Amino acid sequence: MNKDILNLLDFEKKDFDLLFKSAARFKQNALTGNIKKPLAGKTLGILFDKPSTRTRISFEAAMLQLGGQAIFINARDTQIARDEPVKDMARVLTRYIDGLVIRTFSQDLIKDFAEFSTIPIINALTDLYHPCQVLSDIMTIIEKKGGYKGIKIAWVGDGNNVANSWINAAAILGFKLSLACPKSYFPDKGILDRARKKSGSNIILVDDPAKAVQGADVIYTDVWASMGQEDEQKERLAVFKPFQVNKKLVRKAAADVIIMHCLPAHRGEEISEDVLEGHSSVIWDQSENKLHMAKAILTELIKH
Ligand code: CP
Ligand code: NVA
Repeated sequence: MNKDILNLLDFEKKDFDLLFKSAARFKQNALTGNIKKPLAGKTLGILFDKPSTRTRISFEAAMLQLGGQAIFINARDTQIARDEPVKDMARVLTRYIDGLVIRTFSQDLIKDFAEFSTIPIINALTDLYHPCQVLSDIMTIIEKKGGYKGIKIAWVGDGNNVANSWINAAAILGFKLSLACPKSYFPDKGILDRARKKSGSNIILVDDPAKAVQGADVIYTDVWASMGQEDEQKERLAVFKPFQVNKKLVRKAAADVIIMHCLPAHRGEEISEDVLEGHSSVIWDQSENKLHMAKAILTELIKH
């Protein structure tokens, strides 16, 4: 496993499998009350420049439950907001804390942090990727479907940061990924090309949601306007309308399809209320698994 988690394309299959196993163990231990504190005495920084409910709180709770301490740092209250170079902040923080979880706009900023620090840097969402989200999502698919091999996942909506991380995961793990996005909102071409070059990758891109969900075991959607795209909300609403995950679309998938959404959700936009709250939705288990996966990630990267 590398020092950092910046992008799932840097992973090997064995890194994924190790984290899935470890997260499942943490989940089981929480149920049986078998609580271990492997990160006692360690300190985690959580540096965020965008809002968060799940990712921030699951990482904070994970660190505390593992026996360590977490410090939340609002990026706007630090000197990087006043143009202190990232390479300076990275070298300073390395001397204070044992790991740093970052949510920000630019993937390059995270890369710079990783280059100039010796502590693990964990990407908690950039404009380009959301790797930890997809790690806990695949953990949920393993729980619900018994594995990811041979599984067909349909992504319906924006070709955004979460979609990009699904593309990277599909490139390494080889499950079938069909993405349906409006043509002007297809995922980044460079990311797709790099993923498709990996052997075993099985990635299809269309602009027809019905095609993408045909025979799908999983339907996944996300907001139509991500954080930082609030100004585009109105024009996006019109273009994305035919991409709503609703009952009519779900009927075209496998009979035992599961519905996933990383949340926050906009009911009546990318997903209908009845599908989000319906019997095929695994969204709350999916959210819970962020906590167990955060424990696996922190233990793996910080303990060693
Ligand atoms: N899914 C997710 O990353 O949620 P938050 O934005 O609340 O962290
Ligand atoms: N694509 C969304 C994901 C939120 C967890 C965003 O970037 O806002």
